[in-house]
Amino acid sequence: MADEPKSVTTRELIAMKTRGERIVVLTCYDALFARLLDASGVDVLLVGDSVNQILAGAETTLSATLDQMIYHTRSVCRGATRALVVCDLPFLTFQVSPQEAIRNAGRVLQETGCHAVKLEGGAPMAATVRALVDVGIPVMGHLGLTPQSVHALGGYRVQGRDEKTAERITADARALEEAGAFAIVLELVPAPLASHITKALTIPTIGIGAGPACDGQVLVLPDMLGLNDQFSAKFVKRYAALAEDVREAVKLYAAEVREGRYPGPEHSFTK
Ligand code: KIV
Repeated sequence: MADEPKSVTTRELIAMKTRGERIVVLTCYDALFARLLDASGVDVLLVGDSVNQILAGAETTLSATLDQMIYHTRSVCRGATRALVVCDLPFLTFQVSPQEAIRNAGRVLQETGCHAVKLEGGAPMAATVRALVDVGIPVMGHLGLTPQSVHALGGYRVQGRDEKTAERITADARALEEAGAFAIVLELVPAPLASHITKALTIPTIGIGAGPACDGQVLVLPDMLGLNDQFSAKFVKRYAALAEDVREAVKLYAAEVREGRYPGPEHSFTK
């Protein structure tokens, strides 16, 4: 019998770092894309709270709700068989107390079938990470540009350019590892700093706008597919131009409907 494709675990991600194998991560918000990404061998599907901007059209991630994240994560889990599915904990669902974090993250795992949660923040969140890990909830950290703190950070800007902030982010990464996180997203930090942190940790770093030395990379799926072509940033590479394809296809469909060329006999039932 052919070997079943093994599903990715948090332990496997740490083993991949040890073996020097890069980890492939993409955001995903629904079952349709989850099936496509899973079949393409993506290791981790991250149901990011960026869904609030990308699909719900909000200005920031701050208004994302737990119910919204549960809805999207459940859909992603229905489409994934191999990939590890991680759900972002939205703003104010984990910051108030470790107990609230356990209740909310526990709900996420129970109601969606996902494997882990992600939360933003460094040393001040370490006790919460420890509490979650202690009750069996795997946690991915998120440092650098943490979008839930966009107002405190003064915009979506590169973090850790000065020595003091770079040292703080490095200490935050160590604190998260110590607290039991299985991986850390590094968003918008200078490549040398990401490289330094990656070497200092035994758990993998997953970079977005953090240069090539991270153990893995994550991108927001509609950005890298060119489906969200209103957004561009230096770190985003577009691997397709799907927004253009969609506009062309829909224009063609509209023209054919208006001219009576669609549906043709081949699309119609005679009886
Ligand atoms: O919400 C999200 O999509 C994320 C990624 C950008 C890492 O947190």
